[in-house]
Amino acid sequence: MVEYQWWQTGVIYQIYPRSFSDTTGNGIGDLRGIIQKLDYLAQTLGIDAIWLSPFYPSPMADFGYDVEDYCNVHPMFGNLDDFDKLIINAHERDIRVIIDWVPNHSSDQHPWFKESRSSLENPKRDWYVWADPTVGGGAPNNWLSVFGGSAWELDQKTGQYYLHSFLKEQPDLNWRNPEIKRVMFETIRFWLDRGVDGFRVDVAHYIMKDPDLRDNPPSPSGALTFHRPHGEYDSQIHLYDKGHEDVHQVYREFRSLLDGYSKESPRMSVGEIHIFEWQDWVKYYGSPEAGLEFHLPFNFTLLKVPWQAKAVRKAVDELESVLPGWAWPNYVFGNHDEGRLASRFGVEQARVAAILLLTLRGTPTIYYGEEIGMTDVEIPPEDQLDPFGLQVPGWGRDRCRTPMQWNSGRHAGFSDKPDPGLWLPLSEDYRRVNVESENECPGSMLTLYRELILLRKSSLALRQGKYRNVNSVPDDCFVYIREAAEEKYLIALNFSPDRRLINNFGYQEGKIVLSSLLDRTELIDSGELSLRPNEGVVAIINT
Ligand code: GLC
Repeated sequence: MVEYQWWQTGVIYQIYPRSFSDTTGNGIGDLRGIIQKLDYLAQTLGIDAIWLSPFYPSPMADFGYDVEDYCNVHPMFGNLDDFDKLIINAHERDIRVIIDWVPNHSSDQHPWFKESRSSLENPKRDWYVWADPTVGGGAPNNWLSVFGGSAWELDQKTGQYYLHSFLKEQPDLNWRNPEIKRVMFETIRFWLDRGVDGFRVDVAHYIMKDPDLRDNPPSPSGALTFHRPHGEYDSQIHLYDKGHEDVHQVYREFRSLLDGYSKESPRMSVGEIHIFEWQDWVKYYGSPEAGLEFHLPFNFTLLKVPWQAKAVRKAVDELESVLPGWAWPNYVFGNHDEGRLASRFGVEQARVAAILLLTLRGTPTIYYGEEIGMTDVEIPPEDQLDPFGLQVPGWGRDRCRTPMQWNSGRHAGFSDKPDPGLWLPLSEDYRRVNVESENECPGSMLTLYRELILLRKSSLALRQGKYRNVNSVPDDCFVYIREAAEEKYLIALNFSPDRRLINNFGYQEGKIVLSSLLDRTELIDSGELSLRPNEGVVAIINT
């Protein structure tokens, strides 16, 4: 009998600390704010683990993904005592804590980089990726930054260029230097010793590049690097600037480090990996023979495929077929880099998406605010903060990072700031779309999420049962069965704005236990199931 771990059976909830809850009245969220909301997370919503985006000391050029000290808390978010309290309070409520770990780059204000750039002879020079200019004096090769422009910045004082796969304020650490592995693994131990349950590893596949720094080849037009067009970055095949095979050895060692601690309590890792070739992506699980790597490499496929039944079903079936039996699936619909569900698909289909996310086989990750149906907030260009959006039009991420909407009061209950000016503006819909109002409303998005999480918790089939799709259904519906032992659930999702009849699922009787509209529980007695426009249902099947 396989023993399932919390990171397989549980639901993960991502918190963007700046935007969750502010206890100091400065308009920016903090760790104490998260502590205050743990009861909401444990009891109202029922999630099992939180993933915190970075809270480290940082100049905030990339809102915390530019780390100045890997073993501390930015005073804006609190201090290490607050963090310890957060761990204790979360664990008391059976909530595990996953933190963001950013191994590819530090801040340019990190003391390591300051030393590294101070002279060619500095002992830390080789802690970052430095290279000489070309003969003509240009950048060492053609690599591009994800955030726009060349990935190389000339350091006037020492005459060499340093690599930055993201902002120039985020120099890439040199993982080919064993010292980097040593010091970065120490930072992992630091947090494991404080009781952290897992790590979300930022741009995990970027850490190893071609040792010869070869030019990337040009890309035939049309090939996407990410899940949507990305301008100049798509003009190259990113063959040499990330994902070198040597990356796997690092994550095998990283896994051993975590496994060493798992004897105490199971620790986990989830890698942020934007790779859409299944065979390359699946390698980041490692293998029992060569050594395991990530417990879960984030599966971003559902962000890439169009929201159409056939495309979604294909993505799920492909994942199911590519995974070895021992590897565990996972699904993601949004995060701090992506548009929100209700804005991408509309509110009705966002409810269908919630059913999908919480009934598929695999660990679901919910981005804060999705459970109440928050929408993207359009920020006028002159008020944009996100450097990505400022440098690459269309990629601004402020819109999905706006403050959590707790109630219909001042600042939506997010902050007591005496004056206006939260770090990002609130969504105008907060008087209607907020935790307090939705908690009392039987048909709300929050109720839907809560019921789905409860259902998943109470059902072996939904938590860890097999997945099997149902053929011969209308093209714009996705229908599948989850089953374990004697328990069977049928999930039927209507992606269309019209009624659809499902009558080929192979069973005669059952009961609809949940509709995305939360207004019906009905018996099924003739092998037929009628779906209303944009409706998803979960039914238990009598076997
Ligand atoms: C990841 C993060 C993103 C960040 C980037 C650079 O993609 O999710 O927010 O800007 O890495 O660290």
